[in-house]
Order: sequence, then structure tokens, then C-alpha cells
Amino acid sequence: MRKPDHHILVCASFRGTEAKGKCIKKESLQLIPYLQEALVDRGLNAMVSSTGCLNLCEEGPVMVIYPQGYWYRDVIGEDAVDEILDALEEGKPAEKYLLA
Ligand code: FES
Repeated sequence: MRKPDHHILVCASFRGTEAKGKCIKKESLQLIPYLQEALVDRGLNAMVSSTGCLNLCEEGPVMVIYPQGYWYRDVIGEDAVDEILDALEEGKPAEKYLLA
């Protein structure tokens, strides 16, 4: 595998060894398999990783895309992922989900 063009981080709510934050309660982990499939379908060279709590729990599920530095909030369900990936392919952020 070559170095990915994008690294997508999905909050998995870990604080220490336990998933205590809110993103996982709002099904953030369910986004990961959908994201991985969607990236392959779209031919995007991106890697997906789960993270510990990103300290923005009230905004969750939180997702971050680098190197663009897009921080997204309320990423709930496949439609949100699709909108975010559509924008990524267009070279812009998905404003609706962007953290201020
Ligand atoms: S649990 Fe996701 S930001 Fe805290």
C-alpha cells in the first residue's frame, strides 16, 4: 500500500482503556465499515482509523480528515458520510458538518 492521500479519523470514544465518551453511543463505529467500502467504491486512496475521545463529545460523532484538517460534527449515518466524501472528491469541505 502506498501512502494514503487522506487519513480519516473516527472517534471511538476511548478514554484510557474504556470507551466512555459519547461518539460510540451515537454509533460512530458503525461508520467505519461503510466508510471503508465507500472509499473503495469511489477509488479514493484513504485510510480510516478509530481514535480515542477527541474532546468534542457534545458534537459527536466526530470525524476528522487530514491533511485537509476538516473536523466534522454530528456525522450520523451513511448519508452524512456520503455528503462528506462527495465534498472531499470535489476538493472542498462539507460545510453542513464542519466544526466552527
Ligand atoms: S467521545 Fe468523541 S469526542 Fe469525545
